[in-house]
Amino acid sequence: TAYEIYQCDWSSDVCSSDLKGIILHGGHGTRLRPLTHTGPKQLLPIANKPMSQYCVESLRDAGITDIAIIIGGVGSNKVQEYYGDGTKFGVKLTYISQDAPRGIAQAIGLCKEFVNGEKFVVFLGDNILKKSITEYVQRFESSDAKASILLCEVNNPTQFGIADIKDGVLKKIMEKPKDPPTNLAVTGIYLLTPTIFDIIARLKPSWRNEYEITDALQMLLQEQYKITYDMVTDYWKDTGTPHDIIHANQVILSAMKPYFEGNKEGNSDISGNVMVGSGTIIKEGSKVIGPVIIGKDCQIGPNAYIGSNTSIGDNSKISNCHIENSIIMSGCSINGEFTIKDSIIAFNSEISKSDTPDKIFLLGEGTKISL
Ligand code: TTP
Repeated sequence: TAYEIYQCDWSSDVCSSDLKGIILHGGHGTRLRPLTHTGPKQLLPIANKPMSQYCVESLRDAGITDIAIIIGGVGSNKVQEYYGDGTKFGVKLTYISQDAPRGIAQAIGLCKEFVNGEKFVVFLGDNILKKSITEYVQRFESSDAKASILLCEVNNPTQFGIADIKDGVLKKIMEKPKDPPTNLAVTGIYLLTPTIFDIIARLKPSWRNEYEITDALQMLLQEQYKITYDMVTDYWKDTGTPHDIIHANQVILSAMKPYFEGNKEGNSDISGNVMVGSGTIIKEGSKVIGPVIIGKDCQIGPNAYIGSNTSIGDNSKISNCHIENSIIMSGCSINGEFTIKDSIIAFNSEISKSDTPDKIFLLGEGTKISL
């Protein structure tokens, strides 16, 4: 299937674990407004799949099937509607509400009863990790460490929680340091034991009035508990901004296997890594240059150019325009001789060319356009 990179071999015993999983699906999502006015950012699609589904599948493929999802904020009912009891995704889900986004550590603190004395893995619902976590989980399961974190080299360390390491030993964890000692960011995948709950109970809110996971980890270290780390050398992305989402979309698309379940009409031209769902028609005069994913029941063309790194959701109609490096969610209608680049167009949007010299816009709060 298209998502083979995340699939596990159920026949081998590497994929069974007693650890529990927690996915954080709350938060403000302010940096992604207006996309987050109607629903949580973690349901925004990357390569036509909600970003948090990559977390569910990553935990499941590591054998972690008993998972709690922390929900809260605008449209959190959509999370339950989408994932249900988890059966469809091969997991068992429990929903835990967070009344307000009081910080990652506070959200984890709500799961003490769910965790029930077991080791557990926390996955931030907006973090995308290409590689399987199985090996990290297995190592943690058999270790006596109280926590383990995954670190990834970044170019802009002042924007992240950063780990200081000397001779292979974790010395300090700090949030967005002005003068970073390393460029090793703490990713949003935390392997934890119930010891963290005693720490969280004693945590003080930070300057931004949140209970910070970096403070909790630093307190663990200070109290002489053992924290191990692993390096993520493959792709990791914290998708907080539109730019991050477009980048993650590029990376996931280029790792997918091509398939074509639709129909092609006339002289339309398809090349590169292209995934097309059933019921979709690529009409006369159109060009699709992969990597591109087009969902089910779409009408592409006539005369549409769908350039590389583009995802188009189900039931969309696109004609006469040029689109590249963009995410068009399901139910959109785009028609006219213009170019859309590096853009994210949310569900059920409509873009058309007007016949009059005046442009007509109907823009929601927080919209960003560049003409
Ligand atoms: P952040 O990206 O740090 O915060 P945010 O989602 O509120 O976004 P923004 O900064 O743009 O306003 O959150 C990291 C992840 O943790 C994300 O998946 C949301 C989740 N989260 C919670 O579930 N509860 C919380 O209280 C917080 C702060 C975050």
